[in-house]
Amino acid sequence: MIKIAPSILSADFANLERDIRRVAAADYLHVDVMDGSFVPNITIGIPVVAAIRKVTELPLDVHLMIDRPLRYVEQFCQAGADIVTVHVEADTQENTQRALALIHGQGKRAGVVLKPGTPAEAALPFLDSCDIILVMTVEPGFGGQKFMADMMPKLERLRSWIDERNPSCELEVDGGVDPVTCKTVIASGANVLVAGSAVYGAEDIPGRIRELRG
Ligand code: DX5
Ligand code: ZN
Repeated sequence: MIKIAPSILSADFANLERDIRRVAAADYLHVDVMDGSFVPNITIGIPVVAAIRKVTELPLDVHLMIDRPLRYVEQFCQAGADIVTVHVEADTQENTQRALALIHGQGKRAGVVLKPGTPAEAALPFLDSCDIILVMTVEPGFGGQKFMADMMPKLERLRSWIDERNPSCELEVDGGVDPVTCKTVIASGANVLVAGSAVYGAEDIPGRIRELRG
């Protein structure tokens, strides 16, 4: 089954509770955390995750676009994240392994994220300790960017390694997913689709979520 994770980066932050309720038909709620250092934008932090936790039953899929996420993963778990993903580019391999272990130690699901310029192989050291792998199909930092179709070979390779070595691991894509590109990412093996502007820009949000399932 294909899961949809609307990104609240495209929501109206002045009406966040209303906009979270509008995506109740989805599977996860995607929360983009940016620190102004790992990416050139600053968004949501720990207190906002804790506030969101109180107004939705959806699992919170927290995408950390921050340097050395090891420092904060436990706090995000305690604030109510259900899934926490960290970028492989944000620290050493050893510290990324430690971050995944800390997330698991909190009883939460953990994963790694690959930027567009990072090869599929960068996920291999973490494959056995991940519940989810996230492939960026735009440069992280902003919503509403153009989908990078050239990421599909990377997605296909990750899908085959996941099927061989850790079949319960989910494969997520983030960036430029819309009613057309969703078909491409599903065909390439993704099973969790993040969508910000395509969901929040739709007239009929539940209808759009259905459409994105392919
Ligand atoms: C970008 C974020 C995405 C963003 C996706 O750095 O990680 O989650 O919200 O937005 P769309 O779906 O509009 O590309
Ligand atoms: Zn994201």
